[in-house]
Amino acid sequence: MPEDQLNQRAVHEPLAAAPHVPPQKVTLRINGALHDLMIEPRVTLLDALREVLELTGTKKGCDRGQCGACTVLVDGQRINACLTLAIMQEGRDIVTVEGLGEFGVPHPVQQAFTDCDGFQCGYCTPGQVCSAVALLGEVARGDASRLTQGDTLLAGELTDDEIRERMSGNLCRCGAYPNIVSAIRGVVERSAPGA
Ligand code: FES
Ligand code: FES
Repeated sequence: MPEDQLNQRAVHEPLAAAPHVPPQKVTLRINGALHDLMIEPRVTLLDALREVLELTGTKKGCDRGQCGACTVLVDGQRINACLTLAIMQEGRDIVTVEGLGEFGVPHPVQQAFTDCDGFQCGYCTPGQVCSAVALLGEVARGDASRLTQGDTLLAGELTDDEIRERMSGNLCRCGAYPNIVSAIRGVVERSAPGA
């Protein structure tokens, strides 16, 4: 490279500071109760849950939509709470792991995870449980996955591969996957008509 180019230096202007947006009132319905929060519009649902409302059952793993640790239910659908702003969820029905079951009376999915040892360290478990609860809804509706033959999942077609596909957004660094599949399989079979 010519010497005059070697001595050249790129000049980078400092990035313009992001304009300050003051906190504003955001009302969220979480686990059946309304909460008024004063938060900046940039606050994610995950940070609102954990840092403002101290609902720390929902976990922060990657904070970028890759691990599923932050999975919660919004209007019955699972979403990554790290990928949505709290302000976008006003008027919706948010359910976190704290809203499943009651103290001493776990949700059937929570009980199945316990019975089947569907966890080791437990960090991914709240997200896994919320995801599995949403999966049950998908099965009840007959929603198709990428693996389903046709547009509808018919009764009795929920193979273990289907469960793995539908739970593929939830990573477990402890590798508890076989027991997680067993737990979900057990809940589906016990809730089948005539079981
Ligand atoms: S923390 Fe949200 S997907 Fe990992
Ligand atoms: S139980 Fe440890 S990450 Fe899943």
